[in-house]
Amino acid sequence: MDQYHLNRLLTAEEITSMVKKLADQISQDYVGKELILVCILKGAFMFLSDLIRHLKISVEIDFVRLASYGSGMKSSGNIEITKDIELPIEGKDVLIIEDIIDSGHTLQFLKDRLILSNPRSVKICALLDKKARREVKIEADYLGIDVDDVFVVGYGIDFSENYRNLPEIYYVTPSEKQKS
Ligand code: IMP
Ligand code: MG
Repeated sequence: MDQYHLNRLLTAEEITSMVKKLADQISQDYVGKELILVCILKGAFMFLSDLIRHLKISVEIDFVRLASYGSGMKSSGNIEITKDIELPIEGKDVLIIEDIIDSGHTLQFLKDRLILSNPRSVKICALLDKKARREVKIEADYLGIDVDDVFVVGYGIDFSENYRNLPEIYYVTPSEKQKS
């Protein structure tokens, strides 16, 4: 991984303040509701774990893992569930927790699939959004921040399974050595 350079995009403090703001909005909007947070593994695990610590309402949590068969850094519309949710969601309010929206295919697929189980509502909370890369019409109901068309890592988000443990968010560029 030495051939890549990590450029800081968001500090841990900036992430914390975004996560707190999102948790406050969610806490207000779902007062008195039966909310289930569905976290998309693996990228959103850190976001979910910080978010729930700032919520002022009670929630249930569940996890889903999706595999997308695309090439390299780009996801395709070909998505499969490799780990499904386990809680019943019929009649419940569901909020999908995602790390980053890119083409939108992943969220479109998951949202459509969850709706088949007749939840009361399905909304989306994403930490980051690369709006410029969207291929399908889907938006986050709760969004941390828009980012440019760069490849990001850290705070749960990986590049070939590396960098998930970093507490800050970076974008990846080829290192100077690699460029010359
Ligand atoms: P989409 O289906 O194209 O919207 O892809 C969303 C998924 O692709 C996210 O859940 C991430 O796992 C992955 N992804 C998209 N952009 C990045 C990135 O910049 N860094 C790491 N993973 C990314
Ligand atoms: Mg992901």
